[in-house]
Amino acid sequence: MRIQYLSASGGLGGAEVCLLDMMASLQKEKPDWKLALIAAQDGPLVQKAAALGVRTEVLPFPAAVARLGDSKPSNGALAQVALAARLAGTAFAARKYSRKLSQSIRDDAPDLVHSNSLKMHLLGVWGKGPRPPIVWHLHDYLSPRPFMSKALRSCRRRCAAVLANSDSVRDDARLVLGDSPDVTTLYNAIDVNEFSPEGPVADLDRMCNLHPPAAGAIRVGLVATMAWWKGHRDFIRAMALLKNEENIRGYIIGGPLYDSEGSQESIEQLRALAAQLGLQSRIGFTGFVDQPSSVLRALDLVVHAATRPEPFGRVIVEAMACAKPVITTAAGGAAELVTIGHDAMDFRMGDPAHLAERIRELAGDPNLRERLGAAGRKTALARFARERLGGQLAAAYQRVAGKAGDEMSRERMAV
Ligand code: GLC
Repeated sequence: MRIQYLSASGGLGGAEVCLLDMMASLQKEKPDWKLALIAAQDGPLVQKAAALGVRTEVLPFPAAVARLGDSKPSNGALAQVALAARLAGTAFAARKYSRKLSQSIRDDAPDLVHSNSLKMHLLGVWGKGPRPPIVWHLHDYLSPRPFMSKALRSCRRRCAAVLANSDSVRDDARLVLGDSPDVTTLYNAIDVNEFSPEGPVADLDRMCNLHPPAAGAIRVGLVATMAWWKGHRDFIRAMALLKNEENIRGYIIGGPLYDSEGSQESIEQLRALAAQLGLQSRIGFTGFVDQPSSVLRALDLVVHAATRPEPFGRVIVEAMACAKPVITTAAGGAAELVTIGHDAMDFRMGDPAHLAERIRELAGDPNLRERLGAAGRKTALARFARERLGGQLAAAYQRVAGKAGDEMSRERMAV
C-alpha cells in the first residue's frame, strides 16, 4: 500500500511529532508499504521524515494562505467580517495551490491520503478529478474555529474517514461534521524508550543563561508550543505568587512554530511579563528544543496550564513516561490521559493562584512527587507506548481503502 501524508507545517509541534511517530510505527508494522510526505514548509519534520526513509516533497503555501488562521477567537462581528474578507482574498491562491497539490498526489498514485493539518484537510479535497480516499486526522477541536468548521462541513463527503486524537475531539467533530464521515478516536502514542527516566539530562540553567541555583532547587517547567492558549501567562503569574519560595525555579520550554497570524505568544512578550513581575532570575526561557526528553528529565515537576480544553496534550504523556509528576488542567482530551491523585494532580483552568498552591504542595512533598511519577510511567507504558500505533493505523487504512475499493467496483458495475 502507498500512503501519502500531508502537513501544513514543517516544524515540530505536537501534531507533527505524532506524524513522525505514526510513520515510524507503520514502517515497523508494514515494512513493504511506501510512505510519502508533502509538507507546505521545509523544516525538522521534513528532515526527520526523510531520515526515516519517507519520500518527502516541500510544496510551499502562498504567503497569504500560510498566514491565514482562525485559531484565535475574533471579537465581534467586525473582526469576523474582516476574516471573511481575507478568506475571500486568499481563495484564488488557495485554489491554485490545491491544483498543484492534486497533481503532486496524482504523480505519487497513493492508495490513501492522510492529512494531518486543518488547512491540508481542505486543500487536499478541493482539486478536481478522481482522487484516492482521504483521511482527516484531527489534532484540534473544530467548533472554536467557525470558518474552518463551516468549510470542512461543506466538503465532508469528500473525506473517507476522520481520526481524532481523543474522545473529546471526536465528540466535538461529530457535532460539527454530523454522522458521516465516520469519526473514531486514535490516541497518540510515544516512544517510551526515548521518553524514559534514564538518559541524558539537559542543563536547563545554562540553556537559559541563569545562575545555577542553590542545592535543593525544585525545577518546574511548562513545555509547550507558544500557542496563545497554552497558559504561559498563568504559569508566570503562578510563579510570581511563589516569589518567597526561593528554591522554586520556573522554565518555559519551547519556541514559536506556526505561521498563522495571531496564533502565538512571543518569547519577548513573555520575558517582559516575567521581568515586570520581578522574575528575571527565577524563570528561564529555553526556546525550541530538539530533544524534549532530556529537558523533561531535568525537571522535578511538569506543568500543563492550557487556558482552554486541551485536545490531547502530548507533553502530559511524555512527562509521565519520564516518571515526572504532572500538574494539569485535566480539561478536554487531557482528562482522558490521567487519573487525578494517582498519576497526576490537577488545578482549576485559568486560575494561577490554584496552580501556585499545587506547585507549592508538590515542591514540598518529595514522596508525592515520586509516587505520581512512578504511577505516570506505568500509565504511559500501559496506554501510550507506540508499539500499538502501527497495527491500529494499518487496520484503519485497510478499512478505508477496502471501502473505497468496494465503492469503485459498485460504480463500475452500475455503468
Ligand atoms: C495538537 C493539540 C495537542 C495534541 C497534539 C497531538 O497540537 O493541540 O493537544 O497533543 O496536537 O495530537
